[in-house]
Amino acid sequence: MRSFSNILVTGGAGFIGSNFIRYLFTDAGFSGRVINLDALTYAGNPQNLADIAVQYKDRYVFVHGDIRDAALVQKLFADYAIDAVVHFAAESHVDRSILDPQSFITTNVMGTYTLLEAARQAWKGKYGDDPATLSGATGEGAGTSVLFHHISTDEVYGSLGEEGAFKETTPYDPRSPYSASKASSDFLVKAYGHTYGLPVTISNCSNNYGPYQFPEKLIPLMILNMLEDKPLPVYGDGKNIRDWLYVVDHNAAVWTIMARGRIGETYNIGGENEWENIRLLHRLIEIVSEETGKPVWQLEALVTYVKDRPGHDRRYAIDCSKLQNELGWKQSVSFDEGLRHTVRWYLDNPEWIASVRSGAYRSWIEKNYEHRTL
Ligand code: NAD
Ligand code: TYD
Repeated sequence: MRSFSNILVTGGAGFIGSNFIRYLFTDAGFSGRVINLDALTYAGNPQNLADIAVQYKDRYVFVHGDIRDAALVQKLFADYAIDAVVHFAAESHVDRSILDPQSFITTNVMGTYTLLEAARQAWKGKYGDDPATLSGATGEGAGTSVLFHHISTDEVYGSLGEEGAFKETTPYDPRSPYSASKASSDFLVKAYGHTYGLPVTISNCSNNYGPYQFPEKLIPLMILNMLEDKPLPVYGDGKNIRDWLYVVDHNAAVWTIMARGRIGETYNIGGENEWENIRLLHRLIEIVSEETGKPVWQLEALVTYVKDRPGHDRRYAIDCSKLQNELGWKQSVSFDEGLRHTVRWYLDNPEWIASVRSGAYRSWIEKNYEHRTL
């Protein structure tokens, strides 16, 4: 079982990263310090952790900065004696990557390289610096006092037909600029493991949902549009399938891998919870109706089929048996429970919604709305 004193979390002001930091302090029994490096793009909101910043002020440090800034990243390793990195920071939305891929390449690829190189330089001497140590480090938590954990997505594996699920051995076949940039970053992480012996682990997770998700992704977008009686834009025929996992279950899996995962290994994380988009929307409509009193028929009338996303992957499904069998992880929140909790969270947090909807987000959606309508 590994333990860490100073964890550098990148992208910790975003959806999954902020939930991860909250999980470390409130659920994981972590007793060390978290350094949260985030550039605060449109998707980053330091308010996500306002209470944590107060309650754990001696153990939580927020750094407003960019993972592509090599000098800053090197300084953080030195100043805070970082012994683990959890790398969430990324441009994360497929639609944005189709409209403007550049930041996906610079942040997701170059940013990951910058972090890997800083970790390698800072940690020289803390691990074997020899690829042979990797193959020797096979036991639980073996072979290292430092760790670079890379957060990735199931989208690197491409698109599935009606049968089957992605395994860790499925060949990569990314199809959007987003998934191509994430695949590139995964390969860089693997390369640093193989070539330099840097102690790395990687997780590839399916679609997350839960509190603090920016309302450009399917579930929060639909919830907020329902609350405001706006159209609910369903891409294409609505029959694309995603595998949904509650964000806290994702983060529990990440923490399990960091503590006990085998060095150099990839673990798939998934919800075993496949839903056609349109079926999911109908279920979400029922829950929003129950929670707000808006009649189902009124919400159903907002469903609007729109032009499909270019290159829209048809189906994702994850086989996470490696994580379940090797490390004993299992999810704890059912989809119904998680969806209802998420709906209530958005109902209870109008200030958060107002803050993320101001500025950059609003002008982006206005500029690009045409893309979404027939
Ligand atoms: P998000 O867009 O909500 O948050 C990304 C965060 O990274 C933001 O706080 C942003 O400010 C920060 N960031 C962006 N560029 C940066 C830079 N150059 N330097 C420093 N910080 C920067 O994303 P998310 O949904 O929380 O996803 C987090 C990670 O999880 C990503 O790596 C994503 O690929 C991966 N992932 C997401 C999902 C999902 O369903 N959302 C599923 C699997 C994997
Ligand atoms: P999204 O939340 O963008 O995640 P990803 O593309 O990374 O899986 O989209 C989830 C699914 O929902 C995907 O099949 C696209 C679809 N979708 C819509 O039909 N309408 C929308 O407005 C959005 C944002 C997504």
